Amino acid sequence: MSANLPRILVPGKINERVLQRLPEMFDIVRVERPDANLVTADMADIKGIAVSGRVPANLMDALPGLEVIANFGVGYDGVDVTHASAKGIAVTNTPDVLSEEVADTAIGLLINTLRRLPQAEEWLRQGRWVREGAFPLSPLSLRGRAVGLYGLGRIGLAIAKRLEAFGVSVAYHTRSRRDGLAYAYHPTLEGLAAAVDTLVVIVPGTDATRKTVDARVLSALGSNGVLINVGRGSTVDEEALVAALQDGVIAGAGLDVFDNEPHVPDALLALTNVSLLPHVASASVVTRNAMADLVVDNLKAWFSSGKALTPVPETPFERRAR
Ligand code: DGY
Repeated sequence: MSANLPRILVPGKINERVLQRLPEMFDIVRVERPDANLVTADMADIKGIAVSGRVPANLMDALPGLEVIANFGVGYDGVDVTHASAKGIAVTNTPDVLSEEVADTAIGLLINTLRRLPQAEEWLRQGRWVREGAFPLSPLSLRGRAVGLYGLGRIGLAIAKRLEAFGVSVAYHTRSRRDGLAYAYHPTLEGLAAAVDTLVVIVPGTDATRKTVDARVLSALGSNGVLINVGRGSTVDEEALVAALQDGVIAGAGLDVFDNEPHVPDALLALTNVSLLPHVASASVVTRNAMADLVVDNLKAWFSSGKALTPVPETPFERRAR
């Protein structure tokens, strides 16, 4: 332990660059997982957490000197932010630096789902092009589609911009209408689903969004409908989605996120009208490095200037002299 350097707890795994850069200003303390039972008496002076995953309330309670939690990721549903806010602990996330990458992946996943490109590549690799001839025509296409965005934050807007270039119509649903945008606004999610045939989910995983893409919304999307989820798995009622895909209530789905990651329900794996990715929307070296830098820079800013760079809205705190 170096004297005077603030100590930062890293529970579980995190991007390597975070670990490389933290020593610029901090002492790192590592524990295997975010578990309050792993906190020992000599950790009482820990002042910050850098995390890619969960920070439950009891872990915060076990660290009396905790001031700040730097979350690796724009979504911070793994951190009990209500508890952090009540205790005056600042939480930071990594907005902006991943928006374009996630939007790129959303478009790739949409096209893979519609045009079955992963299956077409598999056809070639298995020698079926030579043996059996051309890959079957894809029943679905992006041509002529009407896309609805459930969520229009920074990533949603980056997706919308790309969709415009693809020549498809764009509409959206958020809690309130956004000023200055030409996209059609729908005050309800079901209303949006009924008006479009392609629904892209990019809302944060919160209690308010939990399982909001349910059987009614899927039924409103209709039999030509395609669901894309690059937000959080918790937003979609997975059982209802499987049933809708099995029964032809909708035509297909492209999913980068799941309710119980890394576990994907067997029923989804068994379906041929889905494209499934292992939560890779932001997973390029360049973007993950930028996210890692923002995690470390948030901690450095907190302890040097007293203000985090990108605090989440629930914890707009400044560092008091402690
Ligand atoms: C995020 O930042 O929340 C993403 O899901 C990570 O890829």
